[in-house]
Amino acid sequence: MKGKKFLLAKRPVGEPKVTDFEAVEEELPPVGKGEVLLESVYLSVDPYMRYKSESIPLGTIMPCQAVARVTESKNPAYKVGDNVIAAYGWRSHIVTDPEKLISTFDGSISKAQVLPDFGGVPTSLALGVLGMPGVTALFGLIKLTAPKAGETLVVSGAAGAVGSIVGQIGKILGLKVIGFAGADDKVEWLKELGFDYAYNYKKISVKDALKESAPKGVDVYFDNVGGQISYDVCLRMNTFGRVSLCGAISSYNDMGDTSKPPLAPAIQIPAIGNQLSIHGFLVTRWLNEWQDGIKQLLGYVKQGKLKYRETITEGFDNMPQAFIDILRGENTGKAIVKANL
Ligand SMILES: NC(=O)c1ccc[n+]([C@@H]2O[C@H](COP(=O)([O-])OP(=O)(O)OC[C@H]3O[C@@H](n4cnc5c(N)ncnc54)[C@H](OP(=O)(O)O)[C@@H]3O)[C@@H](O)[C@H]2O)c1
Repeated sequence: MKGKKFLLAKRPVGEPKVTDFEAVEEELPPVGKGEVLLESVYLSVDPYMRYKSESIPLGTIMPCQAVARVTESKNPAYKVGDNVIAAYGWRSHIVTDPEKLISTFDGSISKAQVLPDFGGVPTSLALGVLGMPGVTALFGLIKLTAPKAGETLVVSGAAGAVGSIVGQIGKILGLKVIGFAGADDKVEWLKELGFDYAYNYKKISVKDALKESAPKGVDVYFDNVGGQISYDVCLRMNTFGRVSLCGAISSYNDMGDTSKPPLAPAIQIPAIGNQLSIHGFLVTRWLNEWQDGIKQLLGYVKQGKLKYRETITEGFDNMPQAFIDILRGENTGKAIVKANL
């Protein structure tokens, strides 16, 4: 049986191109004792893949998490038909020992986790609201900024996988929530989700938007993008405001260009002036509490308090294009590829 995978063929310059990735067919080995054959069902496309593409060796498989089905098993802990979540990269199939899988995030030995029964919600949510982006939003907001009812929260990248959840959790906690996104339809969706204010940052300056929506200043900023948006938000923050530094997507395409400093550090001056507490983080710091986070998020989804959207690209062969699309802002909510194998 043959499988397909995508390798990083060229170091992207600026916006990645489809030709930066090489599709390779491989003959899969027979399933040995303790091993399983996994078939990708949904694959995640995420912004971190852009900065990983600056550092992983050329010819290496592109990293990613997937929801996969066990289609053959010689491991008693994994039954044919089980759905698992595993980080084996941009692959259609893999024959592997699911308890000793090499994670494409960091090369560590990791385990393919059999997905629990979500009680009727789609398994693809394990890549979004009930997975890494969900935990990032929940813990990145609550644990690092200690938000209090009545405070004002600003979210950038607000209509994305992480941002859309951050804003809704802010509303659950009783905050005033202001979101910035890059398209009018995204802004409409944020208002449907209950954001108090939502703006298209391509049409209105952040400065003017916050004059209207945050006349008493901003207490908490959840930063997904960095750059000019973050500079403008930090200028408007109250003394001792708190910032959760989650991502800097506005500078990922420029990371390879060392001739100019990245835009992301531009928040330094308002951070000093407003005496901000800024917490950078990686979601992996909460691995020990991960399942508690998922349970909390699933509870919110089932109670109808947390809504989600997925932008699904059909076909494993379209992984590179789906990845390029998130950097162009083509997705609303979580970007996913449905493998259709
Ligand atoms: N620290 C962690 O552990 C962790 C974990 C997960 C994610 N992250 C980070 O969190 C951020 C959001 O991730 P996500 O998975 O939720 O992605 P996402 O928001 O679903 O997708 C990326 C979005 O970023 C926006 N964007 C692209 N270029 C931009 C630019 N130059 N300026 C402003 N916005 C831009 C686009 O939306 P618009 O149309 O609104 O521009 C695009 O849809 C990323 O920076 C990611 O690296 C960090």
